[in-house]
Amino acid sequence: MKFFIDTANLSEIQQAQDMGILDGVTTNPSLMAKEGIAGEEEVKAHYKAICDIVEDKVSAEVISTNYDEMVIEAEALAAIDPKIVVKVPMIADGVKLIKYLSSKGIRTNCTLIFSAGQALLAAKAGATYVSPFLGRLDDIGSTGTALIKEIKTIFDNYEYGTEILCASIRNMTHLLDCAKIGADVATSPLSVYTALKNHPLTDSGLEKFLQDHAKAEEAQLAAA
Ligand code: E4P
Repeated sequence: MKFFIDTANLSEIQQAQDMGILDGVTTNPSLMAKEGIAGEEEVKAHYKAICDIVEDKVSAEVISTNYDEMVIEAEALAAIDPKIVVKVPMIADGVKLIKYLSSKGIRTNCTLIFSAGQALLAAKAGATYVSPFLGRLDDIGSTGTALIKEIKTIFDNYEYGTEILCASIRNMTHLLDCAKIGADVATSPLSVYTALKNHPLTDSGLEKFLQDHAKAEEAQLAAA
């Protein structure tokens, strides 16, 4: 399973990169706004800064919702760095844009996926990734993981090459459920990845190992 980090915060991206487990980054307009990034040049410079930290696969989302404007914006985003994946919302003009960008060899991430039909449509248009939003489905009393399973069943029946990028992951259980289903990618906040290593028995076990080692060292010194 590939691990993407879901943030536009450079320090968090660097921390995940330093952990050695990072395969990519997803951003969205809300995450960019959270970092106070606005204005065409500042936005481009920020995406470039992200690309300079990671090896590949940086999702940068178009803001326009009209096809002609989306094409201009998407091509400008893709020109920032070869690592850019253009993130496109699941709207009619977005599907058309995915088809166009795919024909140009530009990778896409179709975002705001809340149904299997939307995922199938994006795959048919040639999306590199589809991003089903688990957490937001759970928020409205639906079951996010059920959607991931549905999409996986459909994609396994064909050879679209589109990867399932589980998004809106809020906790470790979400991430592990996606891994059990066999989803290709998870995008999560840094806290979810750092939490994966935690277990109280690991902490107490390590403490005991170190104590025993220290006792043995002391005994050897005393015997000398
Ligand atoms: C990722 O591509 C999405 O933008 C993100 O995961 C949304 O997460 P949220 O529902 O926690 O805002």
